[in-house]
Amino acid sequence: MVPAHIGIIMDGNGRWARKRNQVRTQGHLEGLKAAKRIVKAASDMGVSYLTLYAFSTENWKRAAEEVGFIMGLVKRYLIEEMDFYRQNGIRIRHTGDFAGLPADIGQEIRRAMEDTRDFRGLQVILALNYGGRDEICRAVGRMVKGTAELRGGDITEDAIRRCLDNPDIPDPDLIIRTAGELRTSNFLLWEAAYSEYYISDILWPDWTEANLKAAVEDFQKRERRYGGVTSSVQGGNKP
Ligand code: IPE
Ligand code: IPE
Ligand code: MG
Repeated sequence: MVPAHIGIIMDGNGRWARKRNQVRTQGHLEGLKAAKRIVKAASDMGVSYLTLYAFSTENWKRAAEEVGFIMGLVKRYLIEEMDFYRQNGIRIRHTGDFAGLPADIGQEIRRAMEDTRDFRGLQVILALNYGGRDEICRAVGRMVKGTAELRGGDITEDAIRRCLDNPDIPDPDLIIRTAGELRTSNFLLWEAAYSEYYISDILWPDWTEANLKAAVEDFQKRERRYGGVTSSVQGGNKP
């Protein structure tokens, strides 16, 4: 089965540029091209949700020039790709601290979300100014002082889930990290409790449809137990 929800930690843009003696921003530009390839590939494969980690709550530590460049790329992508979204039925969504985004970026995301609201194909969730801990903090904030329907009641997993950024979106089945680091870097901490991880050494700007297919094929061989036992062992108590 194709995973319904894939999350990608798109890492390695800077290393891609350094290998070529280019500036880091060139790596981000190539990373954007990879993002377009992978969005199209996921859409063609019949994936329902694709969450792209584009900018973390920690990425503000980077030089202002690099931060500005990344934000500019996101804005341009949202503006220029409307035909592509329409042709492929792609719906744009957002996760992260929306209020903390520069006003023009927030406005562009809002517009893209509204313009693509009725599209019924792949949903692309941009994780921009996103941190897993930050999302949980904001969820707890909504529980404490949010709207009446969110406030009060017992603190249960379901109550917290309903206060996350996009409660209707199922947890990711597969989380891909490119460029080889073995860490989550604060991506989807709550939602990834039982996600399958796939780490690739390939730098994000080099990613193609074939790499996505390889990740999905690997995922399809996994046995997801959710803390239970293998069906072949169930009922027996042998070593
Ligand atoms: C990922 O590439 C893009 C963002 C985090 C915005 P990096 O810029 O982190 O690339 P490396 O890790 O330095 O190679
Ligand atoms: C994670 O990559 C964030 C994004 C891909 C947007 P980083 O490059 O920021 O992560 P660290 O610093 O290696 O953990
Ligand atoms: Mg990195």
